[in-house]
Amino acid sequence: MPDVTTAAPAANPHLPHYQARGLKGRILSGVQPTGNLHLGNYLGAIRNFARLQHDYECLYCVVDMHAITVWQDPAALSGQTREIASAFLAAGVDGHKHIIFNQSMVPEHAQLAWIFNCVARLGWMNRMTQFKEKAGKDRENVSLGLYAYPALMAADILIYKATHVPVGEDQKQHLELTRDIAIKFNNDFKAPDFFPVTEPLIFGAATRVMSLRDGTKKMSKSDPSDFSRINLTDDADAIAQKIRRAKTDPFPMPDSAADAEKRPDADNLLGIYAALADMEKDAVILEYAGRQFSDFKAALTELAVTKLGPVGAEMQRLMKDPGHVDRILHEGAERARAIAAPILAETYKIVGFLQP
Ligand code: TYM
Repeated sequence: MPDVTTAAPAANPHLPHYQARGLKGRILSGVQPTGNLHLGNYLGAIRNFARLQHDYECLYCVVDMHAITVWQDPAALSGQTREIASAFLAAGVDGHKHIIFNQSMVPEHAQLAWIFNCVARLGWMNRMTQFKEKAGKDRENVSLGLYAYPALMAADILIYKATHVPVGEDQKQHLELTRDIAIKFNNDFKAPDFFPVTEPLIFGAATRVMSLRDGTKKMSKSDPSDFSRINLTDDADAIAQKIRRAKTDPFPMPDSAADAEKRPDADNLLGIYAALADMEKDAVILEYAGRQFSDFKAALTELAVTKLGPVGAEMQRLMKDPGHVDRILHEGAERARAIAAPILAETYKIVGFLQP
């Protein structure tokens, strides 16, 4: 993949900002406020948000407009939005140094998304596996927004000309589409390098955390079984109970990576352990090879409670202070708009829209 950080055009008035500060690029990432924020969201994305903030200029967005592509109870949505913002803060993101905001407060996302709806091809959208999974058999009855979702996601990223996007493995295809949209826009409108070709940042031992009830299914906010996931707000007892009941197989712990690969439930728990302990999975396999699952589960419970307990407690504390979280979101949205508005104005000019 091309090194977009160094390929950034010097004529662009926005990119040199981070370069001048000696940073590697500008990050944008988002999380949907659809409730049940879980361990997969944390290990695959949110924990990395905090780890990247020393090397990048960061914008972290609660994507409430994405959330309503499937029905959300209006009475619950604002609380769910604050919950995600609290998780960013509890994970250690500095909301003053970086930007934390909710998507609907920055209308430029939707404005650019419309242009991208006219750039993206139906054939591209039809390939999106997440749409197929979410729409299921009832495809005629899902919202148009769910179908257009990946074009809005591209707009979330490119309205800031973000160079890097930390996400879990499941978002890879959407980021490839974002790259395709940027390239096609730049070509169609003869605006070379106007939008960057964004790099995904997918790293860590748990880029795809699986369900605790079925190691072949992704851990997800919408799984009807709460025992399939560890929620970030779960207390120690809930975490212990869920790990104890996590599905395993009747054999002793895997004794090699090849053995683990054939046993998805065991492999998933090993990956979670490795990520929480900041170890290589191979080292965890070596440590527990041939031992009983009960020993391993006890160690995993202790580790999970130690690592997640403080994050969950801080989230709970922040959620009791909605005024504080709202101030961070408002201030973040203002700062985000200051970056987005001139990029949208330039885009409108390139497209040929008359402007006030
Ligand atoms: P969402 O809200 O489903 O998930 C938020 C983040 O968590 C990651 N993730 C996982 N990682 C590992 N294992 C899992 N089981 C797991 N489940 C979820 C996701 O990959 C994601 O990084 N479309 C996005 C939200 C979005 C976005 C964006 C992301 C909207 N605009 C712009 C990046 C940039 C989504 O639905 O994430």
